[in-house]
Amino acid sequence: MKPMFSPAEIRKDFPIFSKVMRGGNRLVYLDSGATSQKPFQVLDAERNFYEQNNAAVHRGAHLLAEEASIAYEGAREVLANFLNAELDEVIFTKSATESINAIAYSFGNSAPGSRFALKPGDRIVVSELEHHANLIPWQQLAKRTGAELVWFSIDDQGRLDQSNLGELINASTKIVAITHQSNVLGTIIPLGDIVSKAHSVGAVVVLDACQSAPHFAIDVKSLDVDFLAFSGHKALGPTGIGILWGRSEYLNEMEPFLTGGSMIESVTMTEAKWAPSPKRFEAGVPNMAQAVGFAAAINYLNNLGMDNVEKHEKDLTAYALEKFRGLDKVKLIGPKDTVDRGSVISFTIDGIHPHDVGQVLDQYGVAVRTGHHCAWPLMRKLGLVGTMRASFYIYNDEADVDVLIESIAQAQKYFKV
Ligand SMILES: Cc1ncc(COP(=O)(O)O)c(C=O)c1O
Repeated sequence: MKPMFSPAEIRKDFPIFSKVMRGGNRLVYLDSGATSQKPFQVLDAERNFYEQNNAAVHRGAHLLAEEASIAYEGAREVLANFLNAELDEVIFTKSATESINAIAYSFGNSAPGSRFALKPGDRIVVSELEHHANLIPWQQLAKRTGAELVWFSIDDQGRLDQSNLGELINASTKIVAITHQSNVLGTIIPLGDIVSKAHSVGAVVVLDACQSAPHFAIDVKSLDVDFLAFSGHKALGPTGIGILWGRSEYLNEMEPFLTGGSMIESVTMTEAKWAPSPKRFEAGVPNMAQAVGFAAAINYLNNLGMDNVEKHEKDLTAYALEKFRGLDKVKLIGPKDTVDRGSVISFTIDGIHPHDVGQVLDQYGVAVRTGHHCAWPLMRKLGLVGTMRASFYIYNDEADVDVLIESIAQAQKYFKV
């Protein structure tokens, strides 16, 4: 029988939770939306790779090169299973940012007439909820090609307004690039209508899964999107490793983003022929130990069960939302219930700047994110300079929420608002 989901037990696997914070407080880490903490299992996997198997993968005939390649390709298999994807569709990048740029550059480098090439009059669709990582690459691609950038708006709950979907995604649309879950408001975007409309006009859908893949089960086949990106470091894994998933029929026709060693089938002094995916998109010696650490992180999540992770976060978010409702002069920004909503809570306090609140919370060991969260257009739309953002993960529990709520009261007392 599986043990009950216990954040207290889970925390024992994370060395950082034994750190004593300012004022002798324990760490209340509510910033997993920015980056998650790492369990021993991940740290050990990376260390073990360097101690036992370190060599450049896919090169050399010696034992270490063979073991390193097995470990690296084994990591790919773990990630492919996690996403219900095919092995050759999973590409290791350095981050989600790099993954999204890889798609945008590839499209931008496509020869005129190719199905990926954009021209004036073509359309790229995004949303007002995007993190800069899923906005600026498309802005740049639009500028380079003359394509038009248009976007979905949000309603006053911070949910995507899909009422004009038919106008936004039209026959000129080539790319729909959308976040799965907002890193600021927690909004989860129902994708069904967007994906079917995009496909009906021949557009590809790029999904930014940075805030979803670490928190609930993702199945690329049932989502039916065409590309997906997320980062290892938000899913218990190391920094410096991310995933680009794409349909192999597309990947094997696309131009590579980076060129160099390991991504070729043949080379002469003047020409090179690209290897098939995933090698085509993994030029140079990759981040091998990080890939192995990432797989250990995914195994850790699989052991917990992604459905249990999702349920735990939903319950905790419901508890936190209820507590926030009882606070005076504190405004919740974003969906007020747990329907289509993840475990990210943005809020403002009347009369106190978010950075000042962040500093007071820090005195109680509470780590939250403050500012614009790399989503300036969204902040402008909301008429805010920034928010405080508490984001929960597997190691948080109701006691953490209670400390957050008490420290907000302390901040209000300190600033006399
Ligand atoms: C929704 C979303 N997309 C993209 C990113 C970029 O991720 P990374 O910085 O790991 O590339 C983030 C990071 O906060 C994010 O929250």
